[in-house]
Amino acid sequence: MQRIHSVADLHAALAGARSSVLVPTMGNLHEGHLQLVRHAGSLGAPVVASVFVNRLQFGVGEDFDRYPRTLDDDATALAGAGCDILFAPDERELYPHPQQILIQPPPEADQLCGAHRAGHFAGVLTVVNKLFNLVQPAAAVFGEKDFQQLWLIRSMVAQLAMPVRVVGHPTARADDGLALSSRNRYLSAAERTEAPQLYQALCRVRDRACGGHWDPQALAAGAERELEARGWRVDYVALRDAVSLREPDARTRDWVVLAAARLGDTRLIDNLMFRRL
Ligand code: PAF
Repeated sequence: MQRIHSVADLHAALAGARSSVLVPTMGNLHEGHLQLVRHAGSLGAPVVASVFVNRLQFGVGEDFDRYPRTLDDDATALAGAGCDILFAPDERELYPHPQQILIQPPPEADQLCGAHRAGHFAGVLTVVNKLFNLVQPAAAVFGEKDFQQLWLIRSMVAQLAMPVRVVGHPTARADDGLALSSRNRYLSAAERTEAPQLYQALCRVRDRACGGHWDPQALAAGAERELEARGWRVDYVALRDAVSLREPDARTRDWVVLAAARLGDTRLIDNLMFRRL
Protein backbone atom coordinates (compact mmCIF):
# COMPACT_ATOMS: atom_id res chain seq x y z
CA MET A 1 0.00 0.00 0.00
CA GLN A 2 1.25 3.46 -0.84
CA ARG A 3 0.87 6.11 1.84
CA ILE A 4 0.44 9.52 0.24
CA HIS A 5 0.06 13.00 1.71
CA SER A 6 0.17 15.36 -1.27
CA VAL A 7 -2.13 15.88 -4.24
CA ALA A 8 0.88 15.73 -6.59
CA ASP A 9 1.87 12.29 -5.27
CA LEU A 10 -1.75 11.14 -5.46
CA HIS A 11 -1.94 12.09 -9.12
CA ALA A 12 1.35 10.35 -9.82
CA ALA A 13 0.16 7.18 -8.07
CA LEU A 14 -3.12 7.17 -10.00
CA ALA A 15 -1.54 8.03 -13.36
CA GLY A 16 -1.40 4.43 -14.59
CA ALA A 17 -4.77 3.34 -13.22
CA ARG A 18 -7.81 3.31 -15.50
CA SER A 19 -10.15 3.76 -12.56
CA SER A 20 -10.31 3.47 -8.78
CA VAL A 21 -12.75 3.03 -5.93
CA LEU A 22 -12.68 5.61 -3.14
CA VAL A 23 -13.49 5.06 0.53
CA PRO A 24 -13.56 8.47 2.25
CA THR A 25 -12.99 8.36 6.03
CA MET A 26 -11.98 10.59 8.89
CA GLY A 27 -9.67 7.90 10.25
CA ASN A 28 -9.67 6.16 13.62
CA LEU A 29 -10.75 3.17 11.63
CA HIS A 30 -12.80 0.30 13.00
CA GLU A 31 -14.21 -2.90 11.54
CA GLY A 32 -17.04 -0.95 9.89
CA HIS A 33 -14.56 1.09 7.83
CA LEU A 34 -12.58 -2.03 6.96
CA GLN A 35 -15.74 -3.67 5.65
CA LEU A 36 -16.15 -0.67 3.33
CA VAL A 37 -12.57 -1.11 2.13
CA ARG A 38 -13.00 -4.86 1.57
CA HIS A 39 -16.23 -4.20 -0.33
CA ALA A 40 -14.45 -1.54 -2.41
CA GLY A 41 -11.76 -4.14 -3.17
CA SER A 42 -14.41 -6.48 -4.56
CA LEU A 43 -15.43 -3.91 -7.18
CA GLY A 44 -12.46 -4.63 -9.40
CA ALA A 45 -10.35 -1.47 -9.30
CA PRO A 46 -7.55 -0.17 -7.06
CA VAL A 47 -8.85 1.07 -3.71
CA VAL A 48 -8.03 4.56 -2.45
CA ALA A 49 -8.94 5.28 1.19
CA SER A 50 -8.76 8.86 2.35
CA VAL A 51 -8.15 9.83 5.96
CA PHE A 52 -8.93 13.47 6.64
CA VAL A 53 -10.58 15.02 9.68
CA ASN A 54 -12.64 17.63 7.91
CA ARG A 55 -12.88 20.81 9.98
CA LEU A 56 -15.64 22.15 7.71
CA GLN A 57 -18.17 19.58 8.94
CA PHE A 58 -17.66 20.27 12.65
CA GLY A 59 -19.64 22.99 14.39
CA VAL A 60 -18.49 25.32 17.15
CA GLY A 61 -18.12 23.31 20.37
CA GLU A 62 -18.08 19.95 18.58
CA ASP A 63 -15.29 17.40 18.85
CA PHE A 64 -12.96 18.49 16.00
CA ASP A 65 -9.99 19.02 18.34
CA ARG A 66 -10.41 15.80 20.28
CA TYR A 67 -11.44 13.65 17.29
CA PRO A 68 -9.06 10.65 17.54
CA ARG A 69 -6.18 10.83 15.05
CA THR A 70 -4.54 7.43 14.71
CA LEU A 71 -2.93 7.47 11.27
CA ASP A 72 -0.25 4.81 11.87
CA ASP A 73 -2.79 2.31 13.19
CA ASP A 74 -5.16 3.25 10.35
CA ALA A 75 -2.41 2.59 7.78
CA THR A 76 -1.72 -0.87 9.21
CA ALA A 77 -5.44 -1.74 9.23
CA LEU A 78 -5.97 -0.43 5.69
CA ALA A 79 -3.03 -2.41 4.32
CA GLY A 80 -4.48 -5.54 5.95
CA ALA A 81 -7.89 -4.88 4.38
CA GLY A 82 -6.43 -4.66 0.88
CA CYS A 83 -6.27 -0.90 0.37
CA ASP A 84 -3.90 0.15 -2.42
CA ILE A 85 -3.47 3.85 -1.66
CA LEU A 86 -3.90 5.70 1.61
CA PHE A 87 -4.41 9.41 0.90
CA ALA A 88 -3.96 11.42 4.09
CA PRO A 89 -3.57 15.11 3.21
CA ASP A 90 -3.21 17.84 5.78
CA GLU A 91 -5.52 20.85 5.79
CA ARG A 92 -3.21 23.06 3.76
CA GLU A 93 -3.02 20.42 1.06
CA LEU A 94 -6.76 20.04 0.77
CA TYR A 95 -8.16 23.51 1.36
CA PRO A 96 -7.11 26.96 0.25
CA HIS A 97 -7.20 29.63 2.97
CA PRO A 98 -10.07 29.81 3.49
CA GLN A 99 -12.24 27.48 1.45
CA GLN A 100 -14.84 30.04 0.38
CA ILE A 101 -16.84 27.99 -2.07
CA LEU A 102 -19.03 25.36 -0.44
CA ILE A 103 -21.60 22.93 -1.76
CA GLN A 104 -25.06 24.20 -0.82
CA PRO A 105 -27.06 21.15 0.32
CA PRO A 106 -30.77 20.75 -0.52
CA PRO A 107 -33.49 21.41 2.11
CA GLU A 108 -33.40 17.75 3.21
CA ALA A 109 -30.11 18.63 4.94
CA ASP A 110 -31.88 20.96 7.37
CA GLN A 111 -33.79 18.20 9.17
CA LEU A 112 -32.66 15.28 11.35
CA CYS A 113 -28.91 15.68 12.05
CA GLY A 114 -28.80 18.90 10.05
CA ALA A 115 -31.27 20.54 12.44
CA HIS A 116 -28.79 19.96 15.27
CA ARG A 117 -25.50 20.51 13.41
CA ALA A 118 -25.66 23.77 11.46
CA GLY A 119 -23.45 23.69 8.37
CA HIS A 120 -22.49 20.05 8.89
CA PHE A 121 -23.71 18.73 5.56
CA ALA A 122 -22.31 21.66 3.56
CA GLY A 123 -18.94 20.66 5.02
CA VAL A 124 -19.45 16.98 4.25
CA LEU A 125 -20.57 17.56 0.66
CA THR A 126 -17.76 20.02 0.04
CA VAL A 127 -15.03 17.62 1.13
CA VAL A 128 -16.61 14.67 -0.67
CA ASN A 129 -16.86 16.76 -3.83
CA LYS A 130 -13.22 17.74 -3.47
CA LEU A 131 -12.10 14.15 -2.92
CA PHE A 132 -14.07 13.06 -5.98
CA ASN A 133 -12.35 15.76 -8.03
CA LEU A 134 -8.89 14.76 -6.81
CA VAL A 135 -9.24 10.98 -7.04
CA GLN A 136 -11.78 10.81 -9.89
CA PRO A 137 -12.99 7.39 -8.75
CA ALA A 138 -15.39 5.24 -10.75
CA ALA A 139 -17.18 4.41 -7.49
CA ALA A 140 -17.15 5.50 -3.87
CA VAL A 141 -18.28 3.44 -0.89
CA PHE A 142 -20.05 4.94 2.16
CA GLY A 143 -21.60 3.36 5.25
CA GLU A 144 -25.37 3.30 5.67
CA LYS A 145 -25.00 4.26 9.33
CA ASP A 146 -24.80 7.87 8.13
CA PHE A 147 -28.09 7.48 6.29
CA GLN A 148 -28.80 11.18 5.79
CA GLN A 149 -25.22 11.80 4.66
CA LEU A 150 -25.44 8.98 2.12
CA TRP A 151 -28.80 10.27 0.87
CA LEU A 152 -27.34 13.77 0.40
CA ILE A 153 -24.22 12.47 -1.35
CA ARG A 154 -26.39 10.49 -3.75
CA SER A 155 -28.45 13.65 -4.40
CA MET A 156 -25.33 15.74 -5.02
CA VAL A 157 -23.97 13.18 -7.45
CA ALA A 158 -27.29 12.95 -9.29
CA GLN A 159 -28.01 16.69 -9.39
CA LEU A 160 -24.49 17.67 -10.44
CA ALA A 161 -24.11 14.73 -12.85
CA MET A 162 -20.91 13.60 -11.19
CA PRO A 163 -19.43 10.55 -12.92
CA VAL A 164 -19.21 8.46 -9.73
CA ARG A 165 -21.24 5.43 -8.66
CA VAL A 166 -22.18 5.83 -5.00
CA VAL A 167 -22.27 2.50 -3.19
CA GLY A 168 -23.90 2.16 0.24
CA HIS A 169 -22.77 -0.55 2.61
CA PRO A 170 -24.74 -1.96 5.58
CA THR A 171 -23.95 -0.74 9.09
CA ALA A 172 -21.45 -2.89 10.96
CA ARG A 173 -22.57 -3.71 14.50
CA ALA A 174 -21.03 -5.12 17.66
CA ASP A 175 -22.49 -8.42 18.91
CA ASP A 176 -24.88 -6.49 21.18
CA GLY A 177 -26.20 -4.42 18.26
CA LEU A 178 -24.34 -1.16 18.83
CA ALA A 179 -23.44 0.43 15.49
CA LEU A 180 -19.65 0.67 15.17
CA SER A 181 -18.44 4.26 15.29
CA SER A 182 -15.20 6.07 16.00
CA ARG A 183 -17.08 8.00 18.68
CA ASN A 184 -17.84 4.79 20.65
CA ARG A 185 -14.38 5.15 22.12
CA TYR A 186 -15.57 8.24 24.04
CA LEU A 187 -18.03 6.06 26.02
CA SER A 188 -17.32 5.13 29.64
CA ALA A 189 -17.76 1.47 30.61
CA ALA A 190 -21.25 2.16 31.97
CA GLU A 191 -22.22 4.16 28.87
CA ARG A 192 -20.94 1.38 26.61
CA THR A 193 -23.24 -1.06 28.44
CA GLU A 194 -26.19 1.28 27.87
CA ALA A 195 -25.33 2.25 24.27
CA PRO A 196 -27.02 -0.72 22.46
CA GLN A 197 -30.35 0.57 23.80
CA LEU A 198 -30.38 3.05 20.92
CA TYR A 199 -30.53 0.19 18.42
CA GLN A 200 -33.04 -1.65 20.63
CA ALA A 201 -35.29 1.43 20.55
CA LEU A 202 -35.12 1.48 16.74
CA CYS A 203 -35.95 -2.23 16.60
CA ARG A 204 -39.02 -1.67 18.78
CA VAL A 205 -40.19 1.16 16.49
CA ARG A 206 -39.77 -1.13 13.48
CA ASP A 207 -41.63 -3.98 15.19
CA ARG A 208 -44.50 -1.69 16.21
CA ALA A 209 -44.72 -0.16 12.73
CA CYS A 210 -44.74 -3.58 11.10
CA GLY A 211 -47.21 -4.81 13.71
CA GLY A 212 -49.84 -2.32 12.60
CA HIS A 213 -49.01 0.91 14.48
CA TRP A 214 -49.61 3.56 11.87
CA ASP A 215 -48.76 6.95 13.39
CA PRO A 216 -45.06 7.68 12.68
CA GLN A 217 -44.93 10.67 15.00
CA ALA A 218 -46.42 8.74 17.91
CA LEU A 219 -43.96 5.90 17.30
CA ALA A 220 -41.00 8.30 17.28
CA ALA A 221 -42.22 10.16 20.36
CA GLY A 222 -42.63 6.84 22.21
CA ALA A 223 -39.04 5.87 21.43
CA GLU A 224 -37.78 9.30 22.52
CA ARG A 225 -39.60 8.94 25.84
CA GLU A 226 -38.18 5.44 26.38
CA LEU A 227 -34.62 6.63 25.77
CA GLU A 228 -35.03 9.77 27.89
CA ALA A 229 -36.34 7.65 30.76
CA ARG A 230 -33.05 5.73 30.60
CA GLY A 231 -31.00 8.94 30.81
CA TRP A 232 -30.36 9.67 27.14
CA ARG A 233 -30.60 13.22 25.78
CA VAL A 234 -32.37 12.72 22.50
CA ASP A 235 -31.80 15.00 19.51
CA TYR A 236 -34.42 13.17 17.49
CA VAL A 237 -36.07 9.90 16.65
CA ALA A 238 -37.84 10.12 13.30
CA LEU A 239 -39.43 7.92 10.70
CA ARG A 240 -38.91 8.73 7.07
CA ASP A 241 -39.60 7.37 3.64
CA ALA A 242 -36.22 5.75 2.93
CA VAL A 243 -36.30 6.75 -0.74
CA SER A 244 -37.42 10.39 -0.53
CA LEU A 245 -36.34 11.18 3.06
CA ARG A 246 -39.78 12.82 3.44
CA GLU A 247 -42.33 12.08 6.14
CA PRO A 248 -43.81 8.68 5.35
CA ASP A 249 -47.31 8.53 3.93
CA ALA A 250 -49.75 5.81 2.93
CA ARG A 251 -47.68 5.02 -0.18
CA THR A 252 -44.41 4.53 1.70
CA ARG A 253 -43.08 0.99 1.39
CA ASP A 254 -39.42 1.46 2.28
CA TRP A 255 -39.09 3.05 5.69
CA VAL A 256 -36.20 4.14 7.80
CA VAL A 257 -36.24 5.04 11.47
CA LEU A 258 -33.35 7.31 12.39
CA ALA A 259 -32.11 8.56 15.74
CA ALA A 260 -29.42 10.72 17.28
CA ALA A 261 -29.03 10.85 21.04
CA ARG A 262 -26.41 11.60 23.64
CA LEU A 263 -25.06 9.45 26.41
CA GLY A 264 -23.06 11.81 28.59
CA ASP A 265 -21.00 13.89 26.15
CA THR A 266 -21.12 11.34 23.34
CA ARG A 267 -23.57 11.78 20.48
CA LEU A 268 -24.50 8.51 18.80
CA ILE A 269 -26.52 8.05 15.62
CA ASP A 270 -28.15 4.98 14.18
CA ASN A 271 -30.90 3.97 11.78
CA LEU A 272 -32.83 0.93 10.69
CA MET A 273 -34.45 0.37 7.33
CA PHE A 274 -37.49 -1.82 6.93
CA ARG A 275 -40.23 -2.57 4.47
CA ARG A 276 -43.86 -2.18 5.50
CA LEU A 277 -46.26 -3.78 3.05
O1 PAF B 1 -18.59 9.72 7.15
C1 PAF B 1 -17.49 10.28 7.34
O2 PAF B 1 -16.57 9.73 7.94
C2 PAF B 1 -17.29 11.70 6.83
O3 PAF B 1 -18.45 12.44 6.95
C3 PAF B 1 -16.74 11.73 5.39
C4 PAF B 1 -17.74 11.15 4.40
C5 PAF B 1 -15.44 10.97 5.31
C6 PAF B 1 -16.48 13.18 4.98
O4 PAF B 1 -15.55 13.78 5.82
